[in-house]
Amino acid sequence: MDYSLALENVVFHYPDMAEPALRDLTVRFPKGCKTAVLGHNGSGKSTLFLHAVGLLRPQKGMVLQAGAPVSYAKKELAALRRRVGLVFQDPEQQLILSTPLEDISFGLRGTGMEEAEIEARCAAVLDRLSLSALKDKPVHQLSLGQKKRTALAGVMAMEPELILLDEPTSYLDPVSEAQLLDGLDSIHRTGRTVVMATHDMNLAYRWADWIIVLDQGVCHAAGTPEAIFAGREALQAIGLELPLLAELWHSLPLRLTAGRMAPRNAEDFKAMLNGMLGEGPEERQADWLIEDYTRTGERE
Ligand SMILES: Nc1ncnc2c1ncn2[C@@H]1O[C@H](COP(=O)(O)OP(=O)(O)OP(=O)(O)O)[C@@H](O)[C@H]1O
Ligand SMILES: [Mg+2]
Repeated sequence: MDYSLALENVVFHYPDMAEPALRDLTVRFPKGCKTAVLGHNGSGKSTLFLHAVGLLRPQKGMVLQAGAPVSYAKKELAALRRRVGLVFQDPEQQLILSTPLEDISFGLRGTGMEEAEIEARCAAVLDRLSLSALKDKPVHQLSLGQKKRTALAGVMAMEPELILLDEPTSYLDPVSEAQLLDGLDSIHRTGRTVVMATHDMNLAYRWADWIIVLDQGVCHAAGTPEAIFAGREALQAIGLELPLLAELWHSLPLRLTAGRMAPRNAEDFKAMLNGMLGEGPEERQADWLIEDYTRTGERE
């Protein structure tokens, strides 16, 4: 498999901490894939991302970008950060200028881009993340979800080859989450690599095509969502839950599921169940329940 970025045997110890945050961590982000990084609080996800953009430097081991070790010389680091974009877990750490428009255009101006192109890119990304009406509002007056979307817009506008998002959906409402995922899908369709750290197992299951599980600063497992969520015990041992659809799938009798791929979203799951039971959508239980309820209401 071709990798966009890899950490090889990385050790990182924050000063004054009893335990290292990363201990001999080896992970690879497959090129062109949507990867979810899972792991409980303190397992090292954010520390891994800070290494990926060269904001932290391994005390042992190395970071490889496009197969070559990252050099920490100033010029090369700047080049790395143009290729790899990080959306921080906390937007306060990311937003430096006073309005969304200023903040998003600042990064682009740093690349020497023409003003007309900067304007066009800003307008497109503001529109995509439904921020156009807020573009001139002081950042400190934005809600947390709006700040998260602004931070994401700034990174998206730079169009990096590899985009890392540290818990991007926390504090987003369902509409904003759907917009974010649409935006990420459109980035992914242009051949870019997208990596997201998340605590949302259901989202990881339906969204990702590769999963990395961290535990106490090491890679506990890496594989396809089907493989990672095939067994409950290995995940529960490190305090992670199965996604709801995987849980339901594994609770069905083996004679029904044997030889079939586990469906990873609700639509596929419903279609699969209807197929198994040989019944069409017109016989859905929900319709029957509503009718029955109405009839009961009439009798009273
Ligand atoms: N700036 C820091 N100084 C000292 N220790 C830190 C610092 N940042 C993180 N750590 C420690 O390093 C370990 C890994 O933290 P990290 O933030 O990478 O975990 P995480 O998987 O991102 O957790 P979360 O799910 O809560 O975001 C934790 O034990 C944490 O306490
Ligand atoms: Mg974190």
